[in-house]
Amino acid sequence: MTDLPIVRRVADLRARIAVFRKAGHTVGLVPTMGALHEGHLALVQRAKAENDRVVATIFVNPTQFGPTEDLSAYPRDEAGDVARLAGADCDLLFAPDVTEMYPRGFSTSVTVSGITTHLDGVARPGHFGGVATIVSKLLLQSLPDRAYFGEKDFQQLQVIRCLARDLDMPVEIVGVPTVREADGLALSSRNRYLSPSERKQAAMLPQILAETARQLASADDAAPILAAATARLLQGGFARVDYVALCDEATLAPIASAQKGSRLFAAAHIGRTRLIDNWPVA
Ligand code: PAF
Repeated sequence: MTDLPIVRRVADLRARIAVFRKAGHTVGLVPTMGALHEGHLALVQRAKAENDRVVATIFVNPTQFGPTEDLSAYPRDEAGDVARLAGADCDLLFAPDVTEMYPRGFSTSVTVSGITTHLDGVARPGHFGGVATIVSKLLLQSLPDRAYFGEKDFQQLQVIRCLARDLDMPVEIVGVPTVREADGLALSSRNRYLSPSERKQAAMLPQILAETARQLASADDAAPILAAATARLLQGGFARVDYVALCDEATLAPIASAQKGSRLFAAAHIGRTRLIDNWPVA
């Protein structure tokens, strides 16, 4: 394990990356909001395998949280994160504060239309505007060859692919498969909010998604199967279900029955924690 250099200013990030570039090295970027777990480390490992240098970022981005969401309570553990990134052989950490990313007078936002009108675009108004803006900034600040995002946040991944393509950013956006616990629960920084009994119940989400995906693959009409999955989540202790939806994975638009490239998406609340997950169908 080597010491992990940390920079907090965009100018220092650029200066460090310029040194990598001068040596002819390729650069992979792993944007995160910290509270790192094995899912994030899988992004670093993939970036490490495909690039000479890996730059991680930690920034809890206020503009992607709604007014009733968990910004102030969002888990923060920079010392633990630094140790994890150093252990994963990351080359540089960019961990700016809010005024570095949103200085006085900041007045630009990036809006992705179409795919943001479904799923979390409805359940979390404004969320993807915040994500698109901060990710655009991080990509332009670091100009990596590739940037890595988890498939657990599948809609986010598609939003980022869309903005990079539409804004002609010279970067490859790489999606990395979801890392799961032994019982199937997708790793998420928010899992640490779960009480032991909620944690047990939470495993129902991937289990129901896997079963529902199998049923959908051979069904003509998705609606009753999706309704049954929602009812099972509510019976199993989830307090609220934002959606269980079968969608086209490119457009995120809901579809009536499974077809090539369809994916099942769910968001549900257990206690005060909101969990999301998705599953390929067919
Ligand atoms: O997935 C996340 O951790 C965040 O949404 C991201 C992509 C780092 C933007 O803040």
